[in-house]
Amino acid sequence: MLRESGNYVSGQQLCDTFGVSRTAVWKVINQLKEEGYQVDAVRNRGYRIVDSPDVCTEEELNSLMQNRTTWAGQYIHYYQEIDSTNIRAKQMGEQGAPQGTLVVADMQTAGRGRRGRGWVSPPGSSIYMSLLLKPTFAPDKAPMLTLVMAYSVAQALNHCLKNDFPQNAPEVRIKWPNDIVLNGKKIVGILTEMSTEIDYINHVVIGVGINVNMDSFPEEIAASATSLRIETGKMMKRAPFIVEIMRQFEDNYEQFVRCEDLTFLQKEYDCLLVNCGREVVIHEPQHTYHAVALGINEKGELIVRCDDGTVETVYAGEVSVRGIYGYV
Ligand code: BTN
Repeated sequence: MLRESGNYVSGQQLCDTFGVSRTAVWKVINQLKEEGYQVDAVRNRGYRIVDSPDVCTEEELNSLMQNRTTWAGQYIHYYQEIDSTNIRAKQMGEQGAPQGTLVVADMQTAGRGRRGRGWVSPPGSSIYMSLLLKPTFAPDKAPMLTLVMAYSVAQALNHCLKNDFPQNAPEVRIKWPNDIVLNGKKIVGILTEMSTEIDYINHVVIGVGINVNMDSFPEEIAASATSLRIETGKMMKRAPFIVEIMRQFEDNYEQFVRCEDLTFLQKEYDCLLVNCGREVVIHEPQHTYHAVALGINEKGELIVRCDDGTVETVYAGEVSVRGIYGYV
């Protein structure tokens, strides 16, 4: 109620709404203060939230999410510590949890990355979340969801960064197919997993890891990984990013479901594509070659022009793409 009103709410109003005593209200206000919320209490006016801590609890996310989405992120499960939010979301999918269920954790003990790698997941500084989807389209369309999420995360981060830095917001870009980079280094990884029958999707889980306030990385990834804090010099709250990502994703997902391809975002995705017009190295299982990246097609494949002038499409499942001088 305090967040919704954005202004003072009297103790009496709170008592009447929740059917509790003045003492109960006072106890909850103290509890909020203990959790790091700054609450202003003024005689004859009531209580007002002045600032909130950097937490991604169910209470914080639910109150920010209200009226922002209709289903994405409407069922939030928060864990202080978990093995992997993707694992938990998949279990929930198997137990019949609804589309839009979002698992969020403050830290992961077994964070998973693509190609069997791990994902560094220390506490208190990053976003680890997994969204459960129950699409009715055919399984062969599902890989495109990863690009829909990458595009939504890039849109959301750029939107929030513009609010935080109105004069000189840095712009995040996409490294095909689904890494998000800032100043040439990775700040977001996305891992999509699916449970499927031959012609039917049981559920899809899209896991997103965002390096928000980390101030250093293990040596092995320090050259290619960064965080919003390192690049902007500013600590940022994580919950508003999560809400904005859910808002953008819900909108983009609904468009995707209508056309079942990526024509609706192709142009904007290409504008955000860090590889666009650049020479890239394509590592296929059997051979490696250089080409210039031209953009994506409606299926999300990367269109490239090879040295001999021929134009080819590259499918994300089979290859990895690197810049000629390093990560991008
Ligand atoms: C990558 O390798 O680029 C993908 C990394 C995906 C990491 C996220 S963090 C939240 C979710 N849970 C996991 O275990 N992995 C994903």
